Amino acid sequence: MAKFSLPKNSQIKEGKAWPKPEGATNVTAFRIYRWNPDDGQNPRVDTYYVDRDDCGPMVLDALIYIKNKIDSTLTFRRSCREGICGSCAMNIDGANTLACTKAIDECTSKGEVRIYPLPHMPVVKDLVPDLTRFYAQHASIEPWLKTTTPEPEKEWRQSREDREKLDGLYECILCACCSTSCPSYWWNGDRYLGPAVLLQAYRWLIDSRDEATGERLDNLEDPFRLYRCHTIMNCANVCPKGLNPAKAIAEIKQMMVTRQL
Ligand code: SF4
Ligand code: SF4
Ligand code: FES
Repeated sequence: MAKFSLPKNSQIKEGKAWPKPEGATNVTAFRIYRWNPDDGQNPRVDTYYVDRDDCGPMVLDALIYIKNKIDSTLTFRRSCREGICGSCAMNIDGANTLACTKAIDECTSKGEVRIYPLPHMPVVKDLVPDLTRFYAQHASIEPWLKTTTPEPEKEWRQSREDREKLDGLYECILCACCSTSCPSYWWNGDRYLGPAVLLQAYRWLIDSRDEATGERLDNLEDPFRLYRCHTIMNCANVCPKGLNPAKAIAEIKQMMVTRQL
């Protein structure tokens, strides 16, 4: 078994190493960030050993194993365990992703699985980030259909071709993996909307049924809200749904230029 140690300059202290499960022969170590706002202690990293013969294949299976069988105080979010709700987003083996779709075997290169909360966000507890600002930014782009013409009797119609323009956008589950990988969002997250919210903004800008395009573009015309993207591409590299927020941001910038011509 590999010997675990934190980097010398780490501010996070070694925490508790829990005992290995008795009689287990196929064991993987999990190094997990712990912080409790109520105990007055600094963050630490605890080590848990998971019996792989008694656990499912995904990182979320291991977290549930730990919570159910070793340490019920470990706190994390999850709901669908199908890559749909976005609530289990965290930093696993150095990259933001979904715990429920990340196989344990894909992230044991260093002989252990390291799990931290999404980076550069305030932490509520352990692996739970505070996404209040992220959700407020999403609300600020008014993510719903806006129309001025009278409502049709049955439904707003859309051609097949116009519907296809939403492919690669509607699949976003707002997990925040991309925004919390984006250096521009790390440093200017109070004013820059970040890749996830901008991808959503573009999803409404190009919806053929929406009639508020000019108003939506006005809302983004700001040195910070849109223009802090420097095409670093971390967002597209980490998206667990295979989406490309950087491309959507480039399309919005193009729309800004086109409307000024
Ligand atoms: S674009 Fe991808 S990474 Fe970003 S919030 Fe949507 S699903 Fe998550
Ligand atoms: S391409 Fe833009 S949004 Fe994506 S990570 Fe880079 S700066 Fe952030
Ligand atoms: S639990 Fe819903 S995306 Fe992972």
